[in-house]
Amino acid sequence: MIKINNTQQEFGKVEAQSRIVFVIDKNLEALDDKVILEELDFKEISFVQSSRTLYVNLDKLTAEHLAEASAKAIRAMRGMKYENVKVQMLGGAKEHYATILGILCGFYQFLQYKSQKQTITLHEVLVCGVDEEVVQKALILAESINLVRDLVNTIPNDATPAYLAQIAQEESQKVGLTCKVLDTQAIKAEKMEALLAVSRASAHEPKVIHLTYKHPNAQKRLVFVGKGLTYDSGGLSLKPADYMVTMKADKSGGCAVLGILSAIARLGLPLEVHGIIGAVENMIGGNAYKPDDVLFSREGKSIEVRNTDAEGRLVLADCLSYAQDLNPDYLIDLATLTGACVVGLGEYTTGIMGYNKELKAQMEECASRSGELANQLHFNHHLKGLIDSKIADICNVSSSRYGGAITAGMFLGAFIREKYQDVWLHLDIAGPAFVEKEWGINPYGASGAGVRACVEFAIKQGE
Ligand code: BES
Ligand code: ZN
Ligand code: ZN
Repeated sequence: MIKINNTQQEFGKVEAQSRIVFVIDKNLEALDDKVILEELDFKEISFVQSSRTLYVNLDKLTAEHLAEASAKAIRAMRGMKYENVKVQMLGGAKEHYATILGILCGFYQFLQYKSQKQTITLHEVLVCGVDEEVVQKALILAESINLVRDLVNTIPNDATPAYLAQIAQEESQKVGLTCKVLDTQAIKAEKMEALLAVSRASAHEPKVIHLTYKHPNAQKRLVFVGKGLTYDSGGLSLKPADYMVTMKADKSGGCAVLGILSAIARLGLPLEVHGIIGAVENMIGGNAYKPDDVLFSREGKSIEVRNTDAEGRLVLADCLSYAQDLNPDYLIDLATLTGACVVGLGEYTTGIMGYNKELKAQMEECASRSGELANQLHFNHHLKGLIDSKIADICNVSSSRYGGAITAGMFLGAFIREKYQDVWLHLDIAGPAFVEKEWGINPYGASGAGVRACVEFAIKQGE
């Protein structure tokens, strides 16, 4: 990650090889390079050679616009040959935070599989007058987000369930989490038969990863559960070729859980927090689970399988069951669960589901404050009827083509004990988890969706 150097000097007095200056709504009046910018017909972004300044437009002075503009600016600067750049800070703590986060997340690139490593001259960003706590929070969040991005971007041949477990263990060591990894035998002992069925045709053993963070003054216990499909081929209900590409990102929910736990530990929040990651690969083979099978979940409910591509909910049903044994005050799952959620909300927005109106609203608010987009999708009893099964307790797919994000959410809801219904939330991150064309602070590839929203939620619970 690029280095942030925070000084208490005035912007004008800071020495640097280049500058980033924000323009608000194309208003060039007070700027040194006003005339040149007019000649350049400044619209969104322009570099003025004589003053070595990159000017970036903001439609409005908001944290959200600043994050996006900073990401865009730092990407432009990355291609130039300056060693450092100073950034003009606008607004207060919230805006400063967004600016630094935009820089750190916008600068990210995934180059693991490129044989020619590009050399980047730029290695330091100078900011001035920023509260040190703000800088630290931005650094922690960006590091978590970029860790999640690295993991999700890693190809399925490398990022197997065992690899996720190894990285989880390494990260735990670094930040002070405990990490317990359940292997096939331990998963069998836990009676997670639905998860095991999904995994059965894979050459890679499944892992259930259990991370724990405990502050000595913890008042509340949060449990995050993540779908960690290291690859989703669809199984016997095989995905069409075009839809299979990007399914390495089906582990985004699980990886986000690792990022969330890591950030919470480093922020030292006064909470007890658990992360449960169901790391599994969904493949085909002679021993694959089949449409028509009936599975016996850990929660005791039988599940009719009618489509092996609706595998995430099977893995999550068992992980949510395990998670409820921890007696959570809040239980939140993150998953790239349905294409239907992407159709419904678009590719930038997370779907928030659950039984508790206030809790859903609270998460929506936290997401928005954190800079993520999230909207609620409401359950109703007509949709619930669509996942009834004639031969088992519940069916893993809906009998209708419509409302697929909600019926998937209601399927998960059926595995939540009455006692925990009001504390559970399901976040469908299928849209924003993987970016095919860069937007906001996100370059191409994995975005780290869910990290900012859930850390913000945790901060709120710790207050
Ligand atoms: N992993 C997919 C959902 C997905 C789709 C994530 C597109 C990201 C982008 C999930 O396992 C899946 O395949 N869901 C099916 C459910 C269907 C069989 C009921 C889907 O959405 O088509
Ligand atoms: Zn699937
Ligand atoms: Zn999937």
